[in-house]
Amino acid sequence: MHIFLDTANIDQIRQATKLGVISGVTTNPTLVAKEATADYEMVVKTICAIVSGSVSAEVLAEEADAMMEEARVKASWAPNVAVKIPVTAAGLEATSVLSQENIAVNMTLCFSVNQALLAARAGASYTSPFVGRLDDIGHDGMQLVQDIVEVYQQYDLKTKVIAASIRHPLHCVVAARAGAHIATVTYDVLMQMINHPLTDIGISRFLADWKKVSPK
Ligand code: E4P
Repeated sequence: MHIFLDTANIDQIRQATKLGVISGVTTNPTLVAKEATADYEMVVKTICAIVSGSVSAEVLAEEADAMMEEARVKASWAPNVAVKIPVTAAGLEATSVLSQENIAVNMTLCFSVNQALLAARAGASYTSPFVGRLDDIGHDGMQLVQDIVEVYQQYDLKTKVIAASIRHPLHCVVAARAGAHIATVTYDVLMQMINHPLTDIGISRFLADWKKVSPK
């Protein structure tokens, strides 16, 4: 399973990229707005200069023609941009045209297997089931990831599953076991994935033991 970073924060992207474990970045209008800018183009171009893998930029238009127009502009910002489009009727229409133009589409706000199946049929490169938001309303978000992976495998659909709206490290473990191709995580969750108290205790013990024998 590949790890994407789910943020528009440039410092976090720089820090995480140094670790050599990040294969891409996902953004959305909320994440860009959090950086107190409305210059989506500048943010995405800056990210694409740091990250060579897929970088998702979301469209704000709601009608199919306007979505296509906006998607073509966003896709032109860098060769590794994937355009994020919600799974609606207009979104599917736009995706089916854009995928014919070889524009990578990440179908977002996916909350059901049917939506994921339609996204794949429309030619989306990625589908993003939102795990945490389903958990928030008492549904099992990870079950959706498992079900989508199973259906895609059954019909040999090439669309990649991005486990999104990840809230904690256990989500990543379950997504990986379910066969999700990618999990997109916040910087905080990435740090939580790294940390383990026994690793810290082990390092302290090794250093303390070494001090006992090492010359002053
Ligand atoms: C994914 O592409 C989305 O940007 C993101 O995972 C949404 O997460 P949230 O539910 O924490 O806003």
